[in-house]
Amino acid sequence: MAVERTLAILKPDCVRKNLQGEVLARIQKAGFNVLGLKQLRLTKETAGAFYAVHKGRPFYDGLVEFMSSGPCVPIALEKENAVADFRTLIGATDPREAAEGTIRKLFADNKGENIVHGSDSPENGVIEVAFFFSGSELV
Ligand code: RTP
Ligand code: MG
Repeated sequence: MAVERTLAILKPDCVRKNLQGEVLARIQKAGFNVLGLKQLRLTKETAGAFYAVHKGRPFYDGLVEFMSSGPCVPIALEKENAVADFRTLIGATDPREAAEGTIRKLFADNKGENIVHGSDSPENGVIEVAFFFSGSELV
């Protein structure tokens, strides 16, 4: 299996609930290497650009509002099969549909506020890591 990069974002609900350490511990225990990590607050413009693929969907405006509502924590991760393994670790988008023991099942309140983002393909993993981290910030 290929070593891949994937971008996690601990979303504003995760930070508001003070669950950053708890969620990061689960990510690390699952074997992901942390290449970069920072806390920042997205502007509406930057949140909209990050989720541009969803522009026009009914949930887009709410998603942009939520993602810019407070600090979040982008984390650049690396591991064999990182993209698929990370999505297995976090569970389905809607926590009601997420498997038992997944991060969203354990900690998320609803489909909109679901604790954590994960890249959806190896190509997007590379693109999304570069959205938040410069080369010198990945070590
Ligand atoms: P993410 O990109 O954040 O990792 O989530 P995902 O792949 O599991 O889901 P995606 O379809 O990419 O949707 C992005 C985010 O938009 C919000 N959403 N709300 N209320 C709704 O019907 C709805 N659908 C999507 C969620 O925050 C979702 O994570
Ligand atoms: Mg997605």
